Amino acid sequence: MIRARRDRKPVEVFTDIDLPLPGRREGKVRVSYALPESADGVERRLLITTDRLSAFDRVIASVPYKGQVLNELSAWWFGRMIELLGRLGARHHLLDVPDPNVSIVRSVTPLPVEVVVRGHITGVTDTSLWRRYADGQRVIDGHRLPEGLQKNEPLPTPIITPTTKGSGSGPGEQAGHDEPISCAEVVERGLVEAPLWDQVQTVALAVFELGMAVGAANGALLADTKYEFGLDRDGGLVLIDEVHTPDSSRWWLAASYEERVRAGEEPESLDKEVVRRAFADLGYRGDGPIPELPPETWTATSDRYVEAFRRIVGRPLIPGAYPVPERIVANLTEAGLL
Ligand SMILES: Nc1ncnc2c1ncn2[C@@H]1O[C@H](COP(=O)(O)OP(=O)(O)OP(=O)(O)O)[C@@H](O)[C@H]1O
Ligand SMILES: [Mg+2]
Repeated sequence: MIRARRDRKPVEVFTDIDLPLPGRREGKVRVSYALPESADGVERRLLITTDRLSAFDRVIASVPYKGQVLNELSAWWFGRMIELLGRLGARHHLLDVPDPNVSIVRSVTPLPVEVVVRGHITGVTDTSLWRRYADGQRVIDGHRLPEGLQKNEPLPTPIITPTTKGSGSGPGEQAGHDEPISCAEVVERGLVEAPLWDQVQTVALAVFELGMAVGAANGALLADTKYEFGLDRDGGLVLIDEVHTPDSSRWWLAASYEERVRAGEEPESLDKEVVRRAFADLGYRGDGPIPELPPETWTATSDRYVEAFRRIVGRPLIPGAYPVPERIVANLTEAGLL
């Protein structure tokens, strides 16, 4: 369990791990290592989700239990979509979860696009769907949108707005910004071949429908999300990375959604909106040095992630023991991976 001081500032977070394994790769939130092939010839990686939180394309803090929430929530979603993916000739990357913060995944070659699916029109940044629509644009990333949409309302049907994948970066570094492109451009630029891109879109929209339906049953509304895909050694399509987490998606509370939107208020959010709002309150929009946020913000953010898990999955998170690196080493040793 984490210890808390009187000011409730979390004193224990999982920020990094160093394992005696080859092929270390570091993202803003995850650390991964190569694993030996499985007995049946599957290329594998170990994907470890830390408590790091990124905003404005940088790591700005660590939030207790965030890593566990992301890892276990993704695993839960992957488990719910096996048949759906199979029907569409695809699969997900998850093979096993040997620790609350660790996944063993099928190692793939990632496609160079992020597949953003939007069911609602929202956002605050200049490039967001809502801001561009409010500025008068009616054809956005190749999609014609009807007149009269209000902020945070559902779109007539979910749409895909791809982005190119920004160049990789380590924690604290400025990442390459993702560039929005149309679905047609994905093929025109030769990023993904046409038949494969068709399959990717079909799978993304189907998984998004599943996310909306399953979330709705538990009172959570999936507003938009981002998927990543890759190809395995045999050219098979694989859904990778994280799925329907508060980092990759906007989740809203269904109970208060209608009333709030009707009153012109923002929906109650289950994602890292707390952090975005705290920065907005300080007048910070992403330029210049990042201001410090009060410790309460991080406690509230941790609570938000844990609540998102409970809300979406329908049962409470069982918090793993801290410190996390020691626990991971013990679990991986027991699983014969170290
Ligand atoms: N099965 C997989 N095979 C190969 N690479 C994968 C697989 N699953 C995820 N990845 C890659 O691992 C990395 C995950 O790390 P992380 O999420 O920290 O990256 P990031 O995208 O830099 O951070 P952020 O999500 O904050 O933008 C991503 O680059 C993702 O594409
Ligand atoms: Mg990522």
